Amino acid sequence: MSAILVEPTPTKLEQPALPKAEPCVVVIFGATGDLTKRKLMPALCRLTDEGCLESVRILGIGRSEMTDDAFKTLVREALEKSDRIEHLDDEQWREFSGRLRYMSGELDDDETYRKLAARLEELASEGASQNHLFYFATPPSLFFEIVRRLGKAGLAEEGGHWSRIVVEKPFGRDLESARELNATITEVFKENQVYRIDHYLGKDTVQNILVFRFGNSMFEPIWNRNYVDYVEITAAETGGVGGRAGYYEEAGALRDMVANHLLQLLTLTAMEPPVAFDADSVREEKVQVLRSIRRMNPDQVARRTVRARYGPGEIDGEKVKAYKEEAAVKPESVTETYAAVKFYISNWRWSGVPFYLRTGKRLGRDLTEIVIHLKRTPQALFARTPDDQMDPNIVTLRLQPNEGITVTFGAKRPGFEMRTSTVQMDFCYQRAFGVESPAAYEMLLLDVMRGDATLFIRADEAEAQWRLITPIEQAWNNEGRRELPTYAAGSDGPSEADELLKRSGHRWRSLAESRAGCD
Ligand code: BG6
Repeated sequence: MSAILVEPTPTKLEQPALPKAEPCVVVIFGATGDLTKRKLMPALCRLTDEGCLESVRILGIGRSEMTDDAFKTLVREALEKSDRIEHLDDEQWREFSGRLRYMSGELDDDETYRKLAARLEELASEGASQNHLFYFATPPSLFFEIVRRLGKAGLAEEGGHWSRIVVEKPFGRDLESARELNATITEVFKENQVYRIDHYLGKDTVQNILVFRFGNSMFEPIWNRNYVDYVEITAAETGGVGGRAGYYEEAGALRDMVANHLLQLLTLTAMEPPVAFDADSVREEKVQVLRSIRRMNPDQVARRTVRARYGPGEIDGEKVKAYKEEAAVKPESVTETYAAVKFYISNWRWSGVPFYLRTGKRLGRDLTEIVIHLKRTPQALFARTPDDQMDPNIVTLRLQPNEGITVTFGAKRPGFEMRTSTVQMDFCYQRAFGVESPAAYEMLLLDVMRGDATLFIRADEAEAQWRLITPIEQAWNNEGRRELPTYAAGSDGPSEADELLKRSGHRWRSLAESRAGCD
C-alpha cells in the first residue's frame, strides 16, 4: 500500500492561557502507594510547574508513621523516577514541596477522620482553602470505609466551599457491587460531588474522537449502518502483569480493560451528538449507547466472546515466561489475560453492525486504535481491471502510540492501464501540532479542581457497563473450565479470536499492519 502523507496546515499554535484550578486542599488517601507515586504526584508537580495550581495544598494520608519531611523525601524520589518530570530543579522542588503535608492513620478508624478534620481546619487557619478534594488512591475494599467515615466527620458537607471525591476504578467488580458502592456514596455525597476516573478519558486522542466526529461535517454522514461494515477496537499491550498479579488474578482482562476503557472507547465512537459539550449532555448520550447493547445470554457468550492467556514466547527479542509461571498466580487459576467480545448496538444508527473489542497483555505490540471498516461500493466499476476488487475504505483512529488518524482509499496508479491501488492519508498529532499532550492524570485532576465532570463516569454509566460485563463473567464461571486457550507471548492473540471475526467474513487488522503514520 502506498502512503500519502498529509502535510498539516502549518498551525501557528497560539498558546491559550492555561486554565487555573480553584483553590483547594487535595487530600490523598493512599499517599505512599503506587498510584500516588507513579501518577498523582508527577501530575500535581507538572500542574504546579505550569502555574495551574496557585492556591492548592496537598495532604497525604497513609498508614506509615512519617514526618512531613520524610514524606517529601519519598515524593521527591518518586518524581525523579517519573518520565513526566525531565529535570527537577531546586526552585521547582521548593515551589512544589512547600505544598506537601502528611498525616498517618488507619482508614477504617473514625479517629483518623477526626484528626483529618482538625488538620484541615489548622491548614485553613494558615490561609489554605476550605475546598476539599478527597482522592481515593487505595485498594477498592477501602472505598466504603472512607466514604462513610468522611460523612460521619462532616467532611462531605458543602456550604460556601466545596467537597469532592475522586474514585479510582474498579467501581465494584460486578453489577451488584457497583450498585452497592454507588448507593453508599450517594448516602453521603451528591452525584455532582463525585468524580469516577477512567484515565482513558483524560487522553487527548480519546477526546479527539468527539472533535473528529462532531467538529467536522465530513465523516458524520457516513458514521452509521448504511456505510459502516464493522468496527474494531483494540488495546494491545506488550507488558505483562508485573507486580500486580495479586490484583490481576482477581480481575482478568475483561474486568481490567473491557469493562471500562474499551467500553468507553465504544461509547465515544458510537454515541449520538450531544446537545452541548457539557457533563450531563455528553454523559447522557454515552449511557444511551450502553443501554442500547443487549445483555448476552450464555449461548451468545459462548459464540461472541473469547478468553485466553499467554504462554511463553518472545517480545522484542526477549524471552517471556507464561502467565502461569508469574509469581502470585495460583496453579488452579483460570484468569484470562486476553479477551475479545463482539457487541451489537441495537439502535437506529448501528443496528446489525458488529463492534469487536479485544485487549491482551504480552501481545506483539503496544497499540490502541479504533478501526472503522466501511462497506464496499455498491457497484464494482473497476472489476475488470487487473486488480479486480478494490479494498473497502478504512478510517483508523490511532490513540497510542503515534497518535493520529489514517484514512485509506483506492486510487488510480499512474500509467496507461486502468490499475488501482490502496493508498492512505495520515494525520499525525506530533507532526501537526509539535507539542506534547498533557498526561491523562494532569488533565483529569485539573478538571476535578475546576468542577468539570464531563470526562468522568456517572453512577448510571458505571452500572450500565457492569450490566453488560457481569453476564459474560457469570457465563464464563459457569462453564467451569480448568484450562483456557493460550497464545504465544509476542503474538497477535489466540486463533479463537480470529475465528470470531471470520464467521462473519471479517478480520482483525494484524498488530503490525497499523502503520506508524508519523514516520
Ligand atoms: C489500567 C489497567 O487501567 O490501564 C492496566 O489496570 C493497563 O492493566 C492500563 O495496563 C493501560 O493504560 P495505558 O494508559 O497504558 O493504555
